[in-house]
Amino acid sequence: MADTAKLVIDQNTYEFPLVKGTENEIGIDIKTLRGVSGGVITLDPGFKNTGSCESAITFLNGEEGILRYRGYSIEELAEKADFLEVAFLLIFGELPTKEQLEKFDADIKEKAIVDEDVKKIIDAFPKNAHPMGVLSSLTSALIAFNPSSVNVDSEQEMYRAIVKILAKFPVLVAWTLRKKQGLPLNYGSKSLGYVENVLRMMFATPDEDYKINPIIKDALDKLLILHADHEQNCSTSTVRIVGSSHAGLFASLSAGISALWGPLHGGANQAVLEMLEAIRQDGGDTKKYMAKAKDKNDPFRLMGFGHRVYKNFDPRAKIIKVAADQVLNDLGIEDPILTIAKGLEQEALNDEYFVKRKLYPNVDFYSGIIYRAMGIPVEMFTVMFALGRLPGWIAQWREMRLNKEPIGRPRQIYIGKNYRPFVEINKR
Ligand code: ACO
Repeated sequence: MADTAKLVIDQNTYEFPLVKGTENEIGIDIKTLRGVSGGVITLDPGFKNTGSCESAITFLNGEEGILRYRGYSIEELAEKADFLEVAFLLIFGELPTKEQLEKFDADIKEKAIVDEDVKKIIDAFPKNAHPMGVLSSLTSALIAFNPSSVNVDSEQEMYRAIVKILAKFPVLVAWTLRKKQGLPLNYGSKSLGYVENVLRMMFATPDEDYKINPIIKDALDKLLILHADHEQNCSTSTVRIVGSSHAGLFASLSAGISALWGPLHGGANQAVLEMLEAIRQDGGDTKKYMAKAKDKNDPFRLMGFGHRVYKNFDPRAKIIKVAADQVLNDLGIEDPILTIAKGLEQEALNDEYFVKRKLYPNVDFYSGIIYRAMGIPVEMFTVMFALGRLPGWIAQWREMRLNKEPIGRPRQIYIGKNYRPFVEINKR
């Protein structure tokens, strides 16, 4: 293949280098386009064809349904690793040795106390506030309690900031839930692992010893791993672009949480459960909702179906579907919602509209069902997604800063009015 691409505008030919990734993805490097062409830019709303960076963290191939973190397949990681190992891998590039993992775990536990004054902020929120709004605000608030900015040229300072947020974030996640439920805001224990502590902080009650259910712990570990990174999606791009202004790590993460909240992104898992519940209450007629999803005059979309990049299947959905069956079986839960979900899936997989548009169930189609079986309220689903995505956001922020990427600042094609003279108010 040639190593340049040519662009002809008005008989002028411009040549741009091709950039080749390690998985043979090809990009046209148009960094010089505007300069050499006298102001021409590319236009790509939604960035469907635009690479914003070169990254060595996550590889995904939407056509073949491949997802790998730092070269390791999501299937193997979900089966063999735990969430903290995956976090280390994503952020620092290699699977940790036993010693590295023990140190990472111990360093995180050392920072796992949140300033008690944060509780006053939580108290000020109404009980019915959406947990994602609360989590985003609390993450922002952490900046006030940890004001020093990170010197990114110091690996040590970078490590300290990373450990701090990995330690405190699950506490905020748990407190967000506990506040809603009117339960005491508690802490984990140094004797427990990262994911076990998440469960303990969320579910322990003051009147009995909390026993970790290994089935639930394993399922949560898996869910968090599956959500841990997904290259340049909406929230990750937000984290990178906010961080590119040299805003701090916590500020960038808080912006990422807000981006994740939307129902077309992380909010989809909540939307899926609400949709399934609505179908159940309406008599469970999946065909009726299939028809609504296909009707172009109806804004209804089948939540949990379709993906910007996976156009054959979402490999995470495959893993999670099996996990959902296992968890429900092991816990002895019979959930009518799961029957509706399976019905919708079967119909969609055999429906011309969905097949033609390559709309398959995505990871969130099943994650909500597992969260529900674990006893996590629907409004907390996206918060759980944020907890899983935290290492990915951190890894991407770190990579962006270490690569010394320039501030993110897209251009536009202006389509507004041309110059017109100001009209005095009495003449309008
Ligand atoms: N139900 C019905 N039709 C759909 C759906 C759906 N869930 N998703 C896409 N379509 C249709 C569109 O109407 C469009 O049809 P047309 O070509 O006749 O106009 C076609 O499929 C392409 O859809 P786009 O919106 O252009 O696809 P895009 O790649 O931009 O969007 C998205 C992907 C946002 C995920 C979309 O499929 C969607 O809204 N899905 C439901 C929400 C969801 O599950 N989001 C979670 C994503 S995964 C995550 O964030 C972890």
